[in-house]
Amino acid sequence: MKQEFSVETLLQHLGEEESFPYGSVTPPIVQTSLFTARTLRERNARQGRNEFGYTYTRADNPTVRLAEQKLAALESTEDALCFSSGMAAIASAILTFAECGAHVICVDTAYPPTRTLLGSWLTRYGVQTTFVSGERMEEFEAAVQPNTRLIYLESPSSLYFRLQDLRAVSQWARAHGIRTLCDNSWATPVFQNPHALGVDLVLHSASKYLGGHSDLLAGVVAGGMEDIVRIRQTRELLGGVLEPFSGWLLLRGLRTLPIRMERAHRSGLQVAKWLASQPHVARVNHPGLPDHPQHALAQAQMRGYSSLFSFETVPITEEQAYAFTERLRLFRFGCSWGGYESLLLGWAHGEANAQGKSPWLFRIYVGLENPDDLIRDLQGAIDALLA
Ligand SMILES: Cc1ncc(COP(=O)(O)O)c(C=O)c1O
Repeated sequence: MKQEFSVETLLQHLGEEESFPYGSVTPPIVQTSLFTARTLRERNARQGRNEFGYTYTRADNPTVRLAEQKLAALESTEDALCFSSGMAAIASAILTFAECGAHVICVDTAYPPTRTLLGSWLTRYGVQTTFVSGERMEEFEAAVQPNTRLIYLESPSSLYFRLQDLRAVSQWARAHGIRTLCDNSWATPVFQNPHALGVDLVLHSASKYLGGHSDLLAGVVAGGMEDIVRIRQTRELLGGVLEPFSGWLLLRGLRTLPIRMERAHRSGLQVAKWLASQPHVARVNHPGLPDHPQHALAQAQMRGYSSLFSFETVPITEEQAYAFTERLRLFRFGCSWGGYESLLLGWAHGEANAQGKSPWLFRIYVGLENPDDLIRDLQGAIDALLA
């Protein structure tokens, strides 16, 4: 079915060609830890021939497997694996390939826990990491060592939304025998397919847009079969597998991913452009805006933009910053984006001047509300800044 249809259609039908029990239109939640055979003889005979199929949900489960089939089709990879969180997926992929004595090159604006895992936690196991901005090929060339095994990419990256040239970096890495991994949570497979650009392994926090409703924790690794077989063993040994009910929630979220992303693209750009026109806003970090320093690269390797970005203010007092946020009625303050609700986080950013004012960096997530309402809400709050 894969090649014949577009992703919107595959998300509704792939793996569901056979009807489910009782003519149910939704897949069953196979909420079991264990799968048994009728007799011990049957079990032992099948296991010996490697034909037993499902044995234990820590290894595999049909509900989760259905989500994995769809995710592999979305990312155009041979296979995909689901994990209990994005961090379980990221850690399992890295631990599969970064053995003691290995060196890793990582983007310095990657998701902070990923940087902690590589930059400090894994040093205990003899893995060293060099951080680079990732914006220029020469940084990778300068950082490479004879024992470099992995290049960890996140494009666009967290907080500043910086890009890496995925085609150029992965081509160069392959020529040096280095595996590439890319966190694709921001763009989602709807707007970017790192594997099609040459990246070996694509990672997701499915707790974000893929799930889409702020009601599940999940992670994904998608890639070629040989790598996936090795990472599946890591998943089974470390145990960070997705449980069936969350697999089912993920399947439900995925069905509407393309239409939610279309909306995220439009609403995010509308709010970003409006913010860029505001006198208190010094800069908007959104790769879809023409003045983003990597806009041309963004257009070349992505088909659209999601709705998480940041903006920097002119110097303001802490009181003004909090007064701005306290006037907002449609935004909540929290970290995990990709759901239906709009969010904001913010920090003082840089040195305070003599008047005690400093620039603030706000990370904004534009949810599924009407963007005109969000802009009105932001306008009212910005007016409080002027007061
Ligand atoms: C870009 C990015 N990657 C990975 C993760 C980790 O995913 P999870 O929270 O599902 O473990 C996050 C979560 O916030 C994220 O923002």
